Amino acid sequence: MNAFNYFMPTRMVYGQGVVREAGKDLALGRKALIVTGKSSARLSGALDDVLAVLPGEYVIFDQVENNPSVETVEAGGRLAREEGCDYVIAIGGGSPLDAAKVMAVLAVNDLPVLELYTTQWEKRALPIVAIPTTAGTGSEVTQYAVLTLEEEETKKGLRGPDLFPHTAYLDPKYTESLPLHVTVDTAVDALSHLVESYLSNRATRASDFVALQGIALWGTAIPALRQGSLTLENRDALLLASSLGGIAIAQTGTALVHALGYSLTYYDGFPHGRANGICMKAYLEYTKSVAPERVETVLELLGLESVAAFGELMDELFKDYAGKLQLSPEKIEHYVSKAMLTNNVKNSLGSPSAEELTKILSDSII
Ligand SMILES: [Fe+2]
Repeated sequence: MNAFNYFMPTRMVYGQGVVREAGKDLALGRKALIVTGKSSARLSGALDDVLAVLPGEYVIFDQVENNPSVETVEAGGRLAREEGCDYVIAIGGGSPLDAAKVMAVLAVNDLPVLELYTTQWEKRALPIVAIPTTAGTGSEVTQYAVLTLEEEETKKGLRGPDLFPHTAYLDPKYTESLPLHVTVDTAVDALSHLVESYLSNRATRASDFVALQGIALWGTAIPALRQGSLTLENRDALLLASSLGGIAIAQTGTALVHALGYSLTYYDGFPHGRANGICMKAYLEYTKSVAPERVETVLELLGLESVAAFGELMDELFKDYAGKLQLSPEKIEHYVSKAMLTNNVKNSLGSPSAEELTKILSDSII
C-alpha cells in the first residue's frame, strides 16, 4: 500500500446557472479585479452573469492575450494595487485564468515576475474566483499558472498553494459559444492532463481515481468531437472531465507531452492542446513499452482498440493541421534539450532519456 498526499482546497460549484444563483456570494471582498481575455468572457455570457449579480465595486482588466506575457500580468497586478482590489475574478480559458492568478500574487507582492519562479512570495495572493469558459485548462482547480517567458523562449509554470482558486464556478453553457477548433484544441488539452497524470511517476491511488473517471467521461464525447457537433450534454462531459484533469495534475503535475508541447507552441505557434495532441500517439507508444497495462486501461476507457486508433482519432480531430509541422533534426534536438530541463520528463513513467524523447518527437511529425 503506497502512502500519498492529496490536496484540493477549491470549492467547485457546478451546474447550469451557477453564477447567477451565487448572487452576492460571488464576492469575496469589497472590490474585484475582473480579469478576462479579449472576447470569450463576453461572448459566453459569463461576464454579463457576473456583472448582473456582483455586489460592490470592480475594475475590469480585459487585455489578456493567448499565452500571457510577463508584461500583461505586471500590468494587471499594478491595476489591482492602484485600485485597491481585494480579490480577483478570472473569466475565460487557461490564459486569463493563469494570468489572473499571477496578478493576484503581484497585487500584494511588488516583485519581479521572474522571482516568483524561484522564491515563495511573502504575502498570500488575493483570493480568486475562477469561471472557465473553455473545457481544457483545469486551471480553476490547480495551483499552477503558466506564462510565456521570452527570456527563456518557452512557456513555464509557476506554482503556489494560494494559486488554487478559492471557488470555481463551472457552467457548461459558457463553452457553447466557442468555435469548433477551440473546443477541440482545449478538449485535447484536458485529455492530455488526464492521461499524463495517470501515466505519471507521481500518480497515487487518489489521482488515479480522478484521472480514470475523467478519461471515461472524455470518451463519451468522442463521437461528437469526430462529427464536429456537440450537444450541451457532450459539453457537460468535457467540462467536468477537464476539471477532473485539473484535480489530477494538481497532484501529479503533467508529463513529457507538455514539456515537448511548450516548444511546439512557442516556436511553431500551435495552440496548446494541439501541440500536446501532436505528441500523444508516440508518447503512448513509448509508455506502452514501460507500463503496458496502464496504456491499455486508457485505450479501453476511451473505447479505442490500439495506440494506432488513438493516432487516427488525433489525425481526424486535427485534419486542418495536416502537414503544417516542419521539424528539422536541429529543431528536434533543441526542443528535446529544453524538455530535458523540466521536471515533466522526470515525472513520466519510464523517465525517458533524451534519445527516447528524440524518437517520440521524430515520430510525432504530422
Ligand atoms: Fe495543458
